[in-house]
Amino acid sequence: MKETGTNQADKQGVGEKFQEETKYTPEKIGGHYLDWNRTSDRCKDYDESFRKVSLPDPQIDKTADIWNIISKRRSVRQYISGKIMALNDLAALLWATQGITAESRRFQFRAAPSAGGLYPIETYLMVRDVERLEPGIYHFRPHRFDLEFLRAGDWSVVLANAALGQRIVADAQVCFVWTAVVERSKWKYRQRAYRYIYLDAGHIAQNLYLAGTAAGMGVCGIGAFFDDGVNDLLGVDGVEETVVYLASVGLAAD
Ligand SMILES: Cc1cc2nc3c(=O)[nH]c(=O)nc-3n(C[C@H](O)[C@H](O)[C@H](O)COP(=O)(O)O)c2cc1C
Repeated sequence: MKETGTNQADKQGVGEKFQEETKYTPEKIGGHYLDWNRTSDRCKDYDESFRKVSLPDPQIDKTADIWNIISKRRSVRQYISGKIMALNDLAALLWATQGITAESRRFQFRAAPSAGGLYPIETYLMVRDVERLEPGIYHFRPHRFDLEFLRAGDWSVVLANAALGQRIVADAQVCFVWTAVVERSKWKYRQRAYRYIYLDAGHIAQNLYLAGTAAGMGVCGIGAFFDDGVNDLLGVDGVEETVVYLASVGLAAD
């Protein structure tokens, strides 16, 4: 028989079990009591000891043609080095990924959809070359539209090493690092939450790809990384909050 590359053990691995055990079926659905006293915040705030950096209101070219942008979108891995990204451009990308775009009495809705409106994904930035930002690790707060400065320093090589040595991470002007605060979603969806967390991250990343293309920046999604290397850099525990996806962003070399 032809070798398919997937052995028997691979067909009964944790992935298959996860897929099976998190299926919705008519028998399994419903009956789960939602404890409204135990909902978690949909946003994370670090304490006052971390410097806050407000972001400019993003100037967005609203005439950009979405169909043209979709047809042009590519994963871009070559960036112009030594150039500085404008803070306004970074603000526009953050707005496109997680910005608040509508509010009701109880909810704030964001640019990217989220299962149940629970918004489990947090955005961190590894900044190397961005106007007015000291190099370092930042946390983005959609509800305040600002950054919290967590760790000073050029962490590009550390993050590149954690991303299996991928050079794009070290060359990029900035890298987006998305984590999930798992309980936000697990509260409602239990183990199926993990599916939705990854879907949420995909929506956010696609917005980054499209907004980056519109703004003349190169974006590359990065799923290959040593999870705990990235978690340690951010200072998250890897269980309650854990990295799910990265993206490098740089000024695109045409
Ligand atoms: C979930 C995911 C993970 C990816 N991980 C990496 C990665 O680690 N390194 C990389 O260079 N590209 C990565 N990519 C980019 C893909 O290689 C790229 O999307 C694919 O080759 C198709 O090319 P295109 O995006 O230009 O259409 C990833 C893309 C996705 C969606």
